[in-house]
Amino acid sequence: MIPCQRHLFDLPDEIAYLNCAYMSPLLRRAAETGAAALARKCRPWTISPDDFFADSERARHLFAQLLGAGPGDIALVPAASYGLAVAAANLPLAPHERILLLAEQFPSNVYTWRELARQRGSAVLTIERPADGDWTAAVLAGLDERVAITALPHCHWTDGGLLDLVAIGERCRAVGSALVLDVTQSLGALPLDLAAVAPDFLVCPGYKWLLGPYSQGYLYVAPHHQDGRPLEHNWIAREGSEDFARLIDYRERHQPGARRFDVGERSNFALLPVAMVGLEQLLAWGVDAIAATLAARTGAIAERAASLGLDATAAERRAGHFLGLRFPQGVPPGLPERLAAERVYVSLRGDSLRVTPHLYNDAGDVDRLLGVLERAL
Ligand SMILES: Cc1ncc(COP(=O)(O)O)c(C=O)c1O
Repeated sequence: MIPCQRHLFDLPDEIAYLNCAYMSPLLRRAAETGAAALARKCRPWTISPDDFFADSERARHLFAQLLGAGPGDIALVPAASYGLAVAAANLPLAPHERILLLAEQFPSNVYTWRELARQRGSAVLTIERPADGDWTAAVLAGLDERVAITALPHCHWTDGGLLDLVAIGERCRAVGSALVLDVTQSLGALPLDLAAVAPDFLVCPGYKWLLGPYSQGYLYVAPHHQDGRPLEHNWIAREGSEDFARLIDYRERHQPGARRFDVGERSNFALLPVAMVGLEQLLAWGVDAIAATLAARTGAIAERAASLGLDATAAERRAGHFLGLRFPQGVPPGLPERLAAERVYVSLRGDSLRVTPHLYNDAGDVDRLLGVLERAL
């Protein structure tokens, strides 16, 4: 178990921030690094051509380490939707084939596929929310030879409902479906065995469980897709772009690996250093230890909430860092106002309260949340 790390963050005592799934706070050190990084642009002569490459490569390296991939498998992207668009542009889909999604999946991982289905005259197959909470069985039941693309999260963004991606990856390979993953709500807090899951594409923005800034994210591209078609054609993704004097010797060839899929202006001098502080800290803590610590925290919250009559998905069917509390009698009137008045930050989604702690939370935060719930019920 990792002891409380609140001292590394700028969280006032009166704030009970249990909403990492919305966005994480930056580490204090990341904010300091960001201020210095932004200030460099006041003195552009201090930014050298090498700087267009060095931080991008380090960020790729750190993310690859967290994922268990090679740095050459990673592209730098601004959002999940960008990475998903790269996947959609590079996967075959015939009119009689389908794209498999979960009900109530995050919209960036739905609109992309609806649009692709429209373009190719194909259809989306939506797996309905299973009554027993077993998403894996429900997905496997629908995943047959007609499915050409399976686009999933590791856990459902509304309540943490967990998918067994190893079993799903195996089935994808057996039926010839591509596997595209959006791990925005899990990577960094839930271990993922990349080699065993073997996705074709995997996307992860950095501003939630990677403790990074907004609009700095990552796309993993499996080696057999790395000669694919990028969404755009920027200068730095081409071979030889390190030589600024020769950029008009236009090149057909790209930089090696997944770098061809990098977004334009990927050398983000202000944000990459901030993103890297978050990644380094996660690697120092270790994802297994983070996951175990957060699972203990959400387990304790679920237990106390159960004594107030609130339901949660069974621990074995949800990701340990994620908790969706349901109100069998509906959300009590005035609950959002009470939470706001007590400075308790969680997300209300339909009749479910999404509680997503991180290592900066302490027992006091949990007491504050439970206190509000007790008074509201
Ligand atoms: C599952 C999931 N995917 C993606 C995103 C963000 O998508 P994008 O980076 O396209 O804005 C979120 C944000 O809440 C999310 O919960």
